[in-house]
Amino acid sequence: MNTKRGQFSSRFGFILAATGSAVGLGNIWGFPTQTTENGGAAFVFVYAILAFLLAYPALMAELTLGRYSGQNIVTTFQDLARTRIGRIFGGAAGYYGVLVACLILSFYTIVAGWMLAYFCSSFLTLFGMNEAAAWFVEDGILRNLVFSSLFAILTMTIIARGVENGIEKWSIRLMPSLILLFVVLIIYVLTQDGAIEGLKQYLLPNPKQLGNPDLIISAMGQAFFSLSLGVGTMLIYGSYLSKREDLPSVGAAVTLVDLGVAFLAGLLIIPAIFVAQNSGIQVYSDSGELVAGPGLILQVLPALFASTGVLGAVVSILFFALMSIASLTSSISMLEVAVSVTVEKTQRSRLKLTFIIGALILGVSWLIVLNFERLFGFVINLTTVYSQPLLGVVMCIFVGWVMYRHKLLQELKLGNEEVEKTMFWKVWPVYVRFICPALILLVVYNSF
Ligand code: TRP
Repeated sequence: MNTKRGQFSSRFGFILAATGSAVGLGNIWGFPTQTTENGGAAFVFVYAILAFLLAYPALMAELTLGRYSGQNIVTTFQDLARTRIGRIFGGAAGYYGVLVACLILSFYTIVAGWMLAYFCSSFLTLFGMNEAAAWFVEDGILRNLVFSSLFAILTMTIIARGVENGIEKWSIRLMPSLILLFVVLIIYVLTQDGAIEGLKQYLLPNPKQLGNPDLIISAMGQAFFSLSLGVGTMLIYGSYLSKREDLPSVGAAVTLVDLGVAFLAGLLIIPAIFVAQNSGIQVYSDSGELVAGPGLILQVLPALFASTGVLGAVVSILFFALMSIASLTSSISMLEVAVSVTVEKTQRSRLKLTFIIGALILGVSWLIVLNFERLFGFVINLTTVYSQPLLGVVMCIFVGWVMYRHKLLQELKLGNEEVEKTMFWKVWPVYVRFICPALILLVVYNSF
């Protein structure tokens, strides 16, 4: 039995894996949807500010905790606590994080399965097999069960291989292809009629909307989901990072790439909506609202692709390949949370535990598929709106109040001797102690 801990072999590998986790359905689907729902460019502007003001400090808390302890979320919290009560609380918070990560994966698997199904469907369309293609895009229980299972198996296969041969190798393969596909698609969409109108909506903020509290709250929630915060994903990735790396700068790189990809996604999808409208596709519902959520990606875009013949079919294949890839580099990071805890706590085989946990999560996915109306929205709300921010507060408390300040400095100094003189050290420790938790609690309070 191999109990040696894995490590990312390079800084580049770590950044691609962590950005791979961050970049996912949240960026490509969630961000453009939220942007259209919250006043276009104003949302983009506020989101960018909050990503650095709130999400980046919380990400730093998680990465630092993980690298300091070199362990999973549960053990990290338990070992840091200095009292018996603290240990119990830490353990409970840690296991709650694991549970939330698993629940997020259970609904994520369903949506990612849709992306795979649409990908297959575009392939069949290209070869003229229209009847078969229609089955893949028609919402059905059997289709959802099949594709969520396929996606879960892909996720398990990568995680079973561990850090360097699984997470890192696949992130290095998948992430650059994702960016490349993006650029190709953006060029295609921006050369179509109607795209410029979309570009204006996306880039020119309406100053009246900048202070809208709903907009601020949505932007904060979106930032937390997008950076995979709170559940121990970034903590465990931090624990696989070499001690030589400068945490504040790798954290900033991850935040920037995540923000950049969300921005690119908007640059693709918002003009695409206007191109679709231009070619006669219905993009506003009867009540006058923009088709949002699943509708945006699963109705408007395929309709747009279908209206442009063979080229459209090719673009469609590319787009859904991109969605599937982005989902996969995120889903592996969710599964790693539970796998790392159980492997390190029980010292049993990673392979076995990966498939047992993966199968349990898939069981929950099936349950959601079979009771879709009742469970899907409920699980999303429970995990992303409430649990993630609250667990983010726990992370800030552990860094700000439980971990000794000199230990914190020591840890950061390993990667940068001069860190004490930086702006980061002057602001961040106080910031995660007081301001960050207070702001997060405000978000949660407001969401009630
Ligand atoms: N951040 C990913 C996205 O934007 C999703 C994700 C991966 C996630 N790991 C997570 C979300 C952990 C919450 C918690 O799609």
